[in-house]
Amino acid sequence: MTQPTAPKTAKLTFGDQEIELPVMVGSEGEVAIDIRQLRAKTGAITYDPGLGNTGACQSKITFLDGEKGVLRYAGYPIEELAKKSSFVEVMWLLLHQQLPSASQLSQFTHDVTYHTMLHEDLKALFQSLPKVGHPMAVCAAAVGALSTFYRKEGPTTREQNWIDAVRLLAKMPTIAAYSYKHSIGQPFMYPRNDLGYASNLLHMMFGNPCEQFEVNPVHAKALDLLLILHADHEQNCSTSTVRTVGSSGANLFASVSAGISALWGPLHGGANQEVIEMLMSIRDGKRSAREFMDLAKTKGSGVRLMGFGHRVYKNYDPRALILKQACYDVLGQLGAKDPLLDIALELEQIALSDSYFIERKLYPNVDFYSGIIYKALGIPVDMFTVFFAIGRMPGWISQWLEYQSDAEARITRPRQVYMGSTTRSYAPADKR
Ligand code: CMC
Repeated sequence: MTQPTAPKTAKLTFGDQEIELPVMVGSEGEVAIDIRQLRAKTGAITYDPGLGNTGACQSKITFLDGEKGVLRYAGYPIEELAKKSSFVEVMWLLLHQQLPSASQLSQFTHDVTYHTMLHEDLKALFQSLPKVGHPMAVCAAAVGALSTFYRKEGPTTREQNWIDAVRLLAKMPTIAAYSYKHSIGQPFMYPRNDLGYASNLLHMMFGNPCEQFEVNPVHAKALDLLLILHADHEQNCSTSTVRTVGSSGANLFASVSAGISALWGPLHGGANQEVIEMLMSIRDGKRSAREFMDLAKTKGSGVRLMGFGHRVYKNYDPRALILKQACYDVLGQLGAKDPLLDIALELEQIALSDSYFIERKLYPNVDFYSGIIYKALGIPVDMFTVFFAIGRMPGWISQWLEYQSDAEARITRPRQVYMGSTTRSYAPADKR
């Protein structure tokens, strides 16, 4: 929430003490009370479960205004980037907070489409894992394992971090596709460096060594759009995880591996898989849309309308708006129909006219419509969150790099309000 004229300080009365705390204002008007001296001056800490009121860093990468439904990468509106940019260009934008020149873009495109091969020994890691294992677990393991190939212990330089960043961006599609190929028992497909980023990913997913595979340009373009829309979203759960792990001095691969695990959860990126499973269960007659919505509103039912609601957006998520239109465009271009789209539209319509959702300001988020496009591209349902992770990779890396060069950064170490037993004496087992 922005305030046009913020005071320079905030006064806090605490018992008979009055302290003055500095106020910071961000470039888009976001106001923050700087509480760094709070504990030293009062002995008290703040209490904010879920950290919904806590700014943990200053950042120049992504701005979002949840009340207005605005999302910008380094100042560029997501709607404009979705129309005019490419995922590779957006990667650079996030990493540098500047659009690349033509020669920078050409060099960077070369780098992230040529460092795509995995070390042959890494294949053994995929092969050692159960085929039924979720691909997010496989990808987290493989990304973590990259540090055993590329990272020596000890401090790193900016140059080394940059090389790691490029490696990770280039190799993530290969890791993702290998996790899928392993699950279906097909040979791993080597990357093709003559293809664009999204086309190469589709080639590694759906090609096989026995026949020529032609990437459908409609699929490649739709995938590029999905990746752009997922590329960053400021201090969400997985990004905060990446920053937190990085704050201990852990390397980029280890930090991002933790981010992949955080993204997997159904309240975060895992929601895209849950949405499609919810739509399929309605399509298959397990419950009607109305019955499902009634359950989602019932406390204690354990059911939520997946793909709806957001910690920050109290308005339509602008990415969901773009994806809703993209569903029509992509299905139209492919000459396909999907009854799941009709069910999603029906759920949205019920929700947006229902007082439960209106009062709580619950709107479709990025995960509500993305699955319908993934499905149209033939992406298997349990790979949806992996594709989210491929998209989020430049965001995680940019935020990790920003943390490394932040002079105010400290190891992340929140405090707690202890509510357990006070001191007591130990008794041996036979005396308890
Ligand atoms: N369906 C039904 N009720 C909901 C939903 C939902 N999807 N989302 C929130 N509510 C209710 C919630 O029960 C609570 O009601 P009450 O005030 O009566 O207790 C109120 O709305 C506020 O919810 P909250 O859980 O306190 O909100 P939060 O900011 O902690 O959680 C959220 C945000 C995204 C986890 C939550 O909205 C949710 O679980 N949504 C479904 C999962 C989902 O789509 N996640 C993807 C998020 S966007 C992409 C990403 O992050 O990867």
